[in-house]
Formats: sequence, structure tokens, C-alpha cells
Amino acid sequence: MDYLQIKGMKPLQGSVTISGAKNSALPLIAFSILSKNPFLLTNLPEVQDIKTLLKLLDNLGASYEYNKNQVEIDTSTINSTIAKYDIVRTMRASVLVLGPLLARFGHCEVSLPGGCAIGQRPIDLHLKALKTMGAEISIRSGYVVANAPKGLKGGVIVFDKVTVTGTENILMAAALAKGTTTIVNAAKEPEVVQLCEVLKKSGVEVEGIGSDEIKIYGTAGELLKTPKVEVIPDRIEAGTYLCAGAITNSKITIRKVEPQHLDAVLLKLQQMGFGLEIEGDEITILPAKKIEPVEIVTSEYPGFPTDMQAQFMSLALLADGTSFIEERLFENRFMHVAELKRFGANIQLKGNLATIIGPTKLCGADVMATDLRASSALVLAGLCAKGVTNVHRIYHLDRGYEKLEEKLTALGAEVKRLKE
Ligand code: EPZ
Repeated sequence: MDYLQIKGMKPLQGSVTISGAKNSALPLIAFSILSKNPFLLTNLPEVQDIKTLLKLLDNLGASYEYNKNQVEIDTSTINSTIAKYDIVRTMRASVLVLGPLLARFGHCEVSLPGGCAIGQRPIDLHLKALKTMGAEISIRSGYVVANAPKGLKGGVIVFDKVTVTGTENILMAAALAKGTTTIVNAAKEPEVVQLCEVLKKSGVEVEGIGSDEIKIYGTAGELLKTPKVEVIPDRIEAGTYLCAGAITNSKITIRKVEPQHLDAVLLKLQQMGFGLEIEGDEITILPAKKIEPVEIVTSEYPGFPTDMQAQFMSLALLADGTSFIEERLFENRFMHVAELKRFGANIQLKGNLATIIGPTKLCGADVMATDLRASSALVLAGLCAKGVTNVHRIYHLDRGYEKLEEKLTALGAEVKRLKE
């Protein structure tokens, strides 16, 4: 197994280009199931989760031409609608094939994704919504068995909780349904917006894009003529590199980003004392004279993203005072706390509230990654810790960060990928 070895306290400089958003590429790969023509997707991040979902489509019989940052998917050759446990268990986002498979073929069996390190992460809201659209859903030996022999019908879907992939699943199911579907309490993440825009460009009438109420006029089973699509920049990777600049108190520039997707993150960096210069699709972060403590409550977009919570906890370790981070979306998203304590961090946990007492001078340590974003927080801590840090189980990082060690090394960090 690989691990990352980081020699800390190196100042960073220069610029880094941000890759395409994993969490937009994944629903768009699932979306290809609705396409009548081969679907071309560019600006793909070369990360494990993308390869996993393409493998799932391959198992279903789809064919594709893939070269790291681009894929053309032909789903006309799909000959199975059973998404097997061995793939789904490695990546929950596989559940995104449920809506499109059911909409196109009237039947599918998708393994229940199971929980993951950050929480139970049920899909009850996805299933309830599909039932409202006329699907017969049952659970059999760990699989969701879904049938809609006469096709799905439009309906009013009210999500009790905002769910990103739940919204995406229903958007894709509704696209081929008979009649109109209204999603109330829809997710508004930029990745959901991109999917809506692609549906619209594929001939599906969609109203309320970017709002919490979306109306979709289904094609009653007619497959979609899909355009070439460029994946939007990854706002979480962008935020992670801004934190790398902040935590090493360096001036760096991130390129090929959509600044407006980062409003909540940029505001918190400013509140902590960092300067920001925004020019088009570039953001430069400037060192803080003094790093101020911060109060963060994670919430759905456009609020502060839960996927940036761990990274800001690492940054808050250096703040001159006490910071508070409340995790409202997932019940177990503080796995990085125990690992950060190995650097010498002073963090108290009470339920979903973390209290971070700074400033702390971090000392390098051996630490273990537990989930994708927690692992990036450990790398950030390693960048500012005295001495050497080894981050183990970095397969978690490889799921969502393209060429992390190359990008950090190009910025001046001392990071090496070694074998255990
Ligand atoms: C998406 O996960 C992202 N993944 C996650 O990013 C992100 O953390 C999350 O949204 C929140 O922003 C992808 O887009 C592939 P949810 P998702 O459904 O859709 C509860 C990363 O780091 N819920 O919005 O699975 C759920 O338990 C990953 O890239 C139900 O109760 O998240 C959670 O508490 C990690 N029932 C809350 O809703 C359901 O049926 C939000 O979950 C669905 C969700």
C-alpha cells in the first residue's frame, strides 16, 4: 500500500490548475445511460472514483473510450441492469445509476451501497421518491430491486432532507418519465446545476435550475440527444489548495476555478485574516498577519460545504484563539480529529461540535487516512508540521484528488509517494 511522506514547514509559491469536479463527473457518467448517441465528457479528473463508475458501466455492457481526462460512452450496448455489490460497496455514488437504469429499462437491481466512514448514508429518500414516480421497489438480499414496467410517471417529490445524489437520481429518472415532475427541497450544489443544464441542452425542459424547486418535463421514454460536455471545476479541490496556501502562510494562485462556487469558503478564509485576489477564473491567497479563530457550521450549498470541514479544522489549529466547527450533515465526520491529535492538536469533541484550541505548533507524525476529505486534512497538517509526516492508507485520497503529490511538489512542498 502507498503512503505519502511530507517534510513540513516548506513555504509554497506559484500556481496550481484545478481539475474537473469528481462530484459532477459521476452523475454525468450515470446520465450517459439516458443518451441515444455516444456521450462525450471532457475535463474529467483522473481519480479512482471515475474509473470505478466506468467499470460499473462496463459490467452493465456499456462501451467507452477513456483517456484519463476524457471519455466517450456508448450505452446502446447495455445488456444488464444489475449493479453488483463488489463495485457498489467501493463507491456509494454508484447508486446514481438507479434512476437512469430504471427510467430507460423499466427494471434494475442495484446493491445497497452500505454505510461508509462518515456515516450511515441511507438512500431511503431516493427510493421513496422513485416509488412516488410509480416504481415498485423491494430490498432483496442487499439489493434494491426496482421495477417500472410501464415506465415512470411524473409526480411531486418533496425531499424531507436535502440530498445531492437523491436530487440527481430523480432529475435523471424524471427526464424520461411520462409527464411533469416537481422536486421540492432540491439540492442546489453547482454539480446539480450542471446536470440540470446538460438535461436542458439534451432537449429536456427544466425549470427552476439552481433553486430548491425544480420542474422537469419528461420525454415519456424518448432517449436524449446529448451534447459534448466539459465538467465544471472541482470547488472542493480548489478549497483544499487554498487551505494549503493558508496553512503554510504562502501566496499561491489556483487556476481554472469558478470563484462563485466558493463564496462560503472564501468568506471564512477572509474572516481568518487571509487576503484574496479574484481575477476571472483565478484566485490568489495572501498570507495572514495573524490567523484569527473561526466558527463554522456545515450546511447544504450555498452554505459552508461539509466536504471542506476537515481541511478547515487543520487550518484552525494554527489560529490564535478558540475555533468551533459544527458538522450538521453527517453523523460521523470527525474521524480526522484523533489523527490530528497525533500532531499535537488540542481539539475537544461534544456530539457534532468540535472545539479547536489554537495556536498549536504541530509536530510531524505517522497518521492514517480514514475518508477522502479527512485524508486531505492530514496532508495539510503535514505541510505545516515540524519534521516528517507519513500519511497512510492514501487510497482514500486517490479517490478524489488528481495528482496530489505532483501538484503540491510543483508548489514547493516536499511530498513523496512511497510503498509501505
Ligand atoms: C454528496 O453525497 C457528495 N457525493 C458528498 O461528497 C457530499 O459530502 C454530500 O453530497 C453532501 O454535500 C457526491 O456527490 C458523489 P446527501 P450524498 O445525500 O449525495 C442524508 C466527497 O467527499 N440522506 O446530500 O451521498 C445523508 O445521510 C463526498 O466527495 C438520507 O438520510 O449526500 C446525509 O446525512 C463525501 N437519506 C444527508 O442526507 C437519503 O436517502 C446529505 O446526504 C439520502 C441522504
